[in-house]
Order: sequence, then structure tokens, then C-alpha cells
Amino acid sequence: MAGHDLHTAFITGASCGIGAALAKALARSGLHVAIAARREPELQAVAEAIAREGGRATVVPVDVSDPVAVTTAVQRTARELGGLDLVIANAGVAAQRHSAKLRWDDCATMLGVNVIGATATLVAAIPAMVERGRGHLVGVSSIAAYRGLPKLAVYSASKAYLSAMLEGMRVDLEPCGIVVTDVRPGYVRTAMNEGAGRLPMELQPEQAAQEILDAILARKAVHAFPLPVAAAMRSAAALPRSLWTPLARKLV
Ligand SMILES: NC(=O)c1ccc[n+]([C@@H]2O[C@H](COP(=O)([O-])OP(=O)(O)OC[C@H]3O[C@@H](n4cnc5c(N)ncnc54)[C@H](OP(=O)(O)O)[C@@H]3O)[C@@H](O)[C@H]2O)c1
Repeated sequence: MAGHDLHTAFITGASCGIGAALAKALARSGLHVAIAARREPELQAVAEAIAREGGRATVVPVDVSDPVAVTTAVQRTARELGGLDLVIANAGVAAQRHSAKLRWDDCATMLGVNVIGATATLVAAIPAMVERGRGHLVGVSSIAAYRGLPKLAVYSASKAYLSAMLEGMRVDLEPCGIVVTDVRPGYVRTAMNEGAGRLPMELQPEQAAQEILDAILARKAVHAFPLPVAAAMRSAAALPRSLWTPLARKLV
């Protein structure tokens, strides 16, 4: 495919939402995509949709919160596809709950998928990328990474972790020829927001996928979108805590 030298990709959370839309967009751009998630029938449906359009997809059923399983899946897929040019840690879960009512089960799931899962996915890919002297790591973080958000304390902390990890990895890995992209979407209409009314400047998964694909092809370090939401969150991040706390309380 003209315009880029990416041939293979591994993407987690590809059974629905942003991940499925991004897998289809990558396949349309000529990449052979390995699509990972827990629900095999949903992955098969995504693979069939890709095949109908003439693309190539490999289904990889895996629970990313099991670091051994995801490490094995990434490394086995790399061998099968002759190397992975692009690895995207997209799988994520969110539970919206006031901190007074937090339940450990919800916290454990978010930490298992958003923190352990994303870390294990990316770390598994690094040795082979270092050996090849090239590769591209992507983490799907969130605009929630910019500040600790009310009712989303654990979720925003998990995304702040991911964004900080990607920043550190970028410094380490750029000299090895590896690009690292931190993607921070605003609201996207997916199962994650099921039941929520209209969200500020919400995007459809296909629009988010196009934003992410463009950021990957441009080898961007960080891409937060849509622009007005990203700008508002960057301004919020610059506020002193004495202003942020009452403002955040008012927004809830
Ligand atoms: N939607 C938004 O407004 C929004 C905004 C900013 C950032 N994001 C981020 O974007 C990413 C994608 O979210 P989405 O909105 O597309 O959510 P979604 O539609 O709920 O999809 C989540 C994906 O993650 C997978 N997943 C969940 N737990 C998993 C596990 N233990 N192992 C493997 N895969 C797992 C799910 O597949 P299975 O259930 O089949 O495993 C599914 O494919 C997430 O990281 C999310 O935090 C979303």
C-alpha cells in the first residue's frame, strides 16, 4: 500500500466499538490485522466483514487481563505473520461510579484490562521490534487521562498510567526505531457509553477510527480529539488544584 510501510497489526478490543472500526480501517489500508478480544463470535463477524471487503484478518481470542495469555498471543501472532509492524493496546473498560460507592470488583476489572492488559500487550511486542529495528506501539488512552475525573477516578487514573507509560517508552524506544503513539479520544458512541444520553461532541466509532489511523500514519506522539474537547481538557490540566476541584464538582 502506497503512503506507508505497515503490513501487519495486532489490535486488542477489536470485537466491537473503536477497536472493530479501527481494525476495518487498517485492513482497508492494506494491513493484515490480528484482531484480539474475549468474544470469538464477535471477532469472527469482524473478520468476515474485513474479508468481504477484500482484506485479511486473523482472529485471536484472548483475555488481556491474563498477562501470560496476552504475551503468548502477541508473540505467537508475530511469528505467524512474519513480524508485527503495529501493536495497538485498545481494549479498555470503564465503570462510572461515585468514589463513595466504589466496588473493588469494578476497580479490579479496570486495572486488569486498562493497566495490566495494555502493559502486557505492548511489552510483549517490544523485544521483536527492537531486534527488527522498527515497529509502532499505540495505546488508546482517553481525554480522561488529563485529570482525575469525578465518578471516573479509577478509570482516569488507569488512562493517566497508560499515557505516562507511553511517554516513558517513547524516550527509551525511539532510538531503537520504534514509534510510540498515545491516542486520547473524547466521547465515542460505543457499548462503553451504553445508556448515556447525548455526550458532548460525541463521535461515531468510524470517525474515531479515522482519527486514530491518521495519527498512526502521521507517526504522531500524542493525538487527543476532537479538538475542542482536547483543548478544554488541556486547559483543565493546567489549572491549579484549588480551581479544578470546585469546577469538577460543578460539572458532575
Ligand atoms: N467510548 C468512549 O467514549 C471512549 C473514550 C475515550 C477512550 N476510550 C477507550 O477506547 C478503547 C475502546 O473502547 P470502546 O469505546 O470501543 O469500548 P467497547 O465498545 O466497550 O469495546 C471494548 C473492547 O475491549 C474488549 N475487552 C474488554 N475486556 C477485555 C478483556 N479482558 N480482554 C480482551 N478484550 C477485552 C472488548 O471485547 P470482549 O468483550 O469481546 O473481550 C471490546 O472489544 C478503550 O480503551 C476505552 O477506554 C473510549
